Amino acid sequence: MEIVIVENKAEAATIAADIVEAYAREGKTLGLATGSTPVGTYQELIRRHREAGLSFADCQAFLLDEYVGLPREHEQTYYQTIRREFTAHIDIEDAKVHSPDGTAEHPGEAARAYDASIKRAGGVDVQILGIGSDGHIGFNEPTSSLVSRTRIKTLHPDTVRDNARFFDGDESKVPHHVMTQGIGTIREARHLLLLAFGENKAEAVAAMVEGPVSAMCPASVLQMHEHVTVIVDQAAAAGLEHTQYYAYALENKPGWQRF
Ligand code: F6R
Repeated sequence: MEIVIVENKAEAATIAADIVEAYAREGKTLGLATGSTPVGTYQELIRRHREAGLSFADCQAFLLDEYVGLPREHEQTYYQTIRREFTAHIDIEDAKVHSPDGTAEHPGEAARAYDASIKRAGGVDVQILGIGSDGHIGFNEPTSSLVSRTRIKTLHPDTVRDNARFFDGDESKVPHHVMTQGIGTIREARHLLLLAFGENKAEAVAAMVEGPVSAMCPASVLQMHEHVTVIVDQAAAAGLEHTQYYAYALENKPGWQRF
């Protein structure tokens, strides 16, 4: 894993946008997360689209997850959220922005179909990830199988509480079920780009990077992936003990790729 500790969210957004831009320029398939963490990266990519002509016209995008039971028009579905925060402001065709169908009558079939559609698209080239304070990625809560596929999951009460801020602070309005890419699905993306900010992520980041690979910290599976970039601010890095491994500078030789 490459661990990049940055001064602030703006620096993280620039580095993350640099990485995503390289894939977008080649018309690659992007894996998108919702939540507050990637918002700055999306804003930076929108800025590059508007001011520097960065095009996403040849890209496809796949979301990580969706609430179950919210109608598609609901402003808090991830279907709507990603459009509002990112894809409506760039030149990707709306039909190329895919998400799990949280309204499906047969959720098991819909989940399998979603995995199949990712495969048909040739897989995800770069997957943007946030991390839950309990170490979840997507909505794979602790004890999720590390080889799981897209399926329905029940949210942990802490995650429901964390997400209540998007539902007028009212936990009773937060759906308790989600359809999420499994950890096995997420692992198939060729490059995982995880961002984390703030002290409430410090424990999860430490467990992900320095703890054992364990279903108790689903994000720790990133240790088993060949191409991972983790970008964290100082507060989210505060629980890391072995910073000597992350702080060294890579000599910049021609053809050496940092990320
Ligand atoms: C969102 C997702 C979640 C979030 C995580 C962090 O699509 O899959 O894993 O990335 O809950 O949420 P924020 O960024 O709001 O702290």
